[in-house]
Amino acid sequence: MTQDELKQAVAKAALDYILPHLESDMILGIGTGSTANFFIDALAEVKTRFDGAVASSEASAERLKKHGIPVYDLNSVSELRFYIDGADESDARLNLIKGGGAALTREKIVAAVSREFVCIADESKLVDVLGNFPLPVEVIPMARSHVARELVKLGGDPAYREDVVTDNGNVILDVWNMSITNPVEMETKINQITGVVTNGLFASRPADVLLLGTAEGVKTLK
Ligand code: 5RP
Repeated sequence: MTQDELKQAVAKAALDYILPHLESDMILGIGTGSTANFFIDALAEVKTRFDGAVASSEASAERLKKHGIPVYDLNSVSELRFYIDGADESDARLNLIKGGGAALTREKIVAAVSREFVCIADESKLVDVLGNFPLPVEVIPMARSHVARELVKLGGDPAYREDVVTDNGNVILDVWNMSITNPVEMETKINQITGVVTNGLFASRPADVLLLGTAEGVKTLK
């Protein structure tokens, strides 16, 4: 199976996972990226069975709207029953690296408001130790060099993701060469650097379930 076929399979599995719980007044949290896009396309088939969605990016909001799924401002919603999103890496405890698509801050906010975070990913994303994928950090533009120097002190090798501005008007530093053996501690330390908006470690609030697309079928990790 190709990577896209695996992503499509987990998107379908996520739909099957949430389907029994859908209610007409329910609002769902929806992530960003190619796996989330497959999920949005699958979700469109059952759009009459729930109320609408909160999106973690402008791109996902556009895709939802194209399918005729109402998109809500998060400030008008008190709780989301599910948040469905992809990841760049996951360990066996469902600590994640996210932000390859530069949407990490909104993703983290939507995840924080969600009762259950259903992560969907192909098997290439499951790793023993996080950090092979460069860790994205969203930074206030004027703090870029300061934050980069602080990240070097933490043992990383930050690279400015040129030509990318986040939906929040900020920039991204991708931190290479980190072996993240204590994700909660690293997430906290990086977030304490002045000028950091947030980083792509989802460890203080990891996923609740990981649906992993493999050649043998979709596996569920909790
Ligand atoms: C976007 C993300 C995505 O979830 C992550 O990059 C995975 O993307 P894809 O599903 O395209 O592999 O965090 O900011």
